[in-house]
Amino acid sequence: MKRLGILTGGGDAPGLNAVIRATVKTAIKEYGCEVFGIRNGYDGFLEMEGIVPLGMQEVRGILPRGGTILGSANRGNPYARKVIRDGKEITVDVSEEIVKGIKRLELDALIVLGGDGTLHIAHELAEKGVPIIGVPKTIDNDISGTEVTFGFDTALNIAMEALDRLHTTAESHHRAMVLELMGRDAGFIALQAGISGGADVILIPEIPFKFESVMAKVHERAEKGSKFSILAVSEGAKPVNGGQIFSRKGDEIYVPRLGGIGQVVGEYIEKQGFESRVTVLGHLQRGGTPTAFDRSLATRFGAAAVRLAAQGGFDRMVALKCSRITDISLVEATATLKRVKLDDDAVVTARNVGISFGDE
Ligand code: F6P
Repeated sequence: MKRLGILTGGGDAPGLNAVIRATVKTAIKEYGCEVFGIRNGYDGFLEMEGIVPLGMQEVRGILPRGGTILGSANRGNPYARKVIRDGKEITVDVSEEIVKGIKRLELDALIVLGGDGTLHIAHELAEKGVPIIGVPKTIDNDISGTEVTFGFDTALNIAMEALDRLHTTAESHHRAMVLELMGRDAGFIALQAGISGGADVILIPEIPFKFESVMAKVHERAEKGSKFSILAVSEGAKPVNGGQIFSRKGDEIYVPRLGGIGQVVGEYIEKQGFESRVTVLGHLQRGGTPTAFDRSLATRFGAAAVRLAAQGGFDRMVALKCSRITDISLVEATATLKRVKLDDDAVVTARNVGISFGDE
């Protein structure tokens, strides 16, 4: 193994730079490899100056930095790339150009850091013969086959801190404070942050809720003397017999953008005569320095991806299982999104301590 490429695709997540650093260090120290960074996801293969050599100097000091030094693109699908032809916007399949770009660079392996979309593309490229290895990244923690993705722990801690801060205002002003959290179709952030931040109600996409049940919990608490409530609401949560709320429709380039359910829940509570305020935590969950857990996991994933490449373990993804680093096929990793299971210990525990999911 002489030449490695690395790219970061999809939304950024805390720990991307830690993976890049570990990959470069391991590749150079253990295998004497040259490493090339591909800028802006797969797009870098098509861009002028899209490829940058990465040495020890380039990765110095990046361990605690959020974002990605390589840049990312969450509309960089080579199978549906947006281009302007004859003044018209169309989508074209440029995957063959990506394959050629990889061959031109004479890469022995391409390490791809990404979530569901980026890893799907990685598998399709692997089927065209590209020696590819995936590293699971997303704050949503929705990738199958790994207990946890890097970025999740940091997002969780930010969400928990936000809940702690909302608590004081909720109590002082006798209000219901609603916090809308990220996670798309998986409720891991709202669930775990809700438990660790002392939420009274947690609404997640996996458990459709009833407005009346949410309100019943707020009233029950008020009657018992706690005239305030904290609600952790996943952006993908939906009422029974209702759909998810989107702030923007999707198209062939962009996935639909979720957002607004927190406001809907807050307005319902106000209409029932209980003062409420809504906070949308948004991209604050994705930014900034990674936690110790994410730095360590990201470093372990980066080094493991290089070891896997050296063994020729292509079309696979590094993963965490029973606290050990392992690897699984990309097909298996991307077959279904990981979501909160209704009999998950965290769900049972939340119910045990009196948290409502709005379903009873
Ligand atoms: O998948 C990660 C994520 O942060 C989701 O939780 C969220 O719905 C989405 O990305 C937001 O994407 P964007 O940065 O494109 O707004």
